[in-house]
Amino acid sequence: MASATTKAISFSVLILLSLCFPSTPSKPTDTDPIPTPWPYQFHSILFMNRSGTLQKTDLWYDWPNGRNFNIIQNQLGKLTYDLEWNNGTSYIYTLDDSDPECQVLHFEVGLLRPNWLDGAEYLGQRYMDGFLCNVWTKVEFVWYYEDVATKRPVFWVFYSGYSAHVMTFEVGRVLEDAKWQAPVYCFNEDKSSLIESIASARTAPIGGFRELRM
Ligand SMILES: *[C@@H]1O[C@H](CO)[C@@H](O)[C@H](O)[C@H]1NC(C)=O
Ligand SMILES: *[C@@H]1O[C@H](CO)[C@@H](O)[C@H](O)[C@H]1NC(C)=O
Repeated sequence: MASATTKAISFSVLILLSLCFPSTPSKPTDTDPIPTPWPYQFHSILFMNRSGTLQKTDLWYDWPNGRNFNIIQNQLGKLTYDLEWNNGTSYIYTLDDSDPECQVLHFEVGLLRPNWLDGAEYLGQRYMDGFLCNVWTKVEFVWYYEDVATKRPVFWVFYSGYSAHVMTFEVGRVLEDAKWQAPVYCFNEDKSSLIESIASARTAPIGGFRELRM
């Protein structure tokens, strides 16, 4: 649960940081490559590593519909659903009948925008996972590796060390609408399994990212 929350919050913090630090890379040159904006809709399988804790994440990014889904399989552990809406509400839940859990978080900021890499500082080319990549950093919060040949993302890592290796990248794939429905116990405030956190991005319990609170 903590890792799902952290991921949800990491991007939200990034958005806040982007607002606080306008897009002014230190010494841009005309020849520096520009990161490819995210497609408006894509599905990606990510292998994530958070201080040695491994996760397989299905990422369904769906900007036109104002929604983003991280379906996180913790290694030999819980399957956690982290459903984010552009109005700032996130539902983080399990679908385990014997142990239903749901956490509702409210952020002041919405989804990561497709052009969230605008203004990133170019760091040059490096190999990652066997792919020659262009590398950028966004406010030294995240480092982003994009395949030079195909312009697909290969890898990114947050300053905390939480990293993502991109295993598949399917542009235009959309998860069917029915799958975007949070379970009923996310809306039942009497249920003891429901933890409702009325929190802004500034006050959210951001785990490993707590020091980034502003
Ligand atoms: C995960 O990251 C840790 C460093 O935080 C590293 O020591 C370990 O080798 C990584 N595991 C995998 C499977 O990449
Ligand atoms: C945001 O949208 C979702 C999905 O439509 C909804 O469940 C949630 O209540 C909305 N949040 C707010 C604060 O309106």
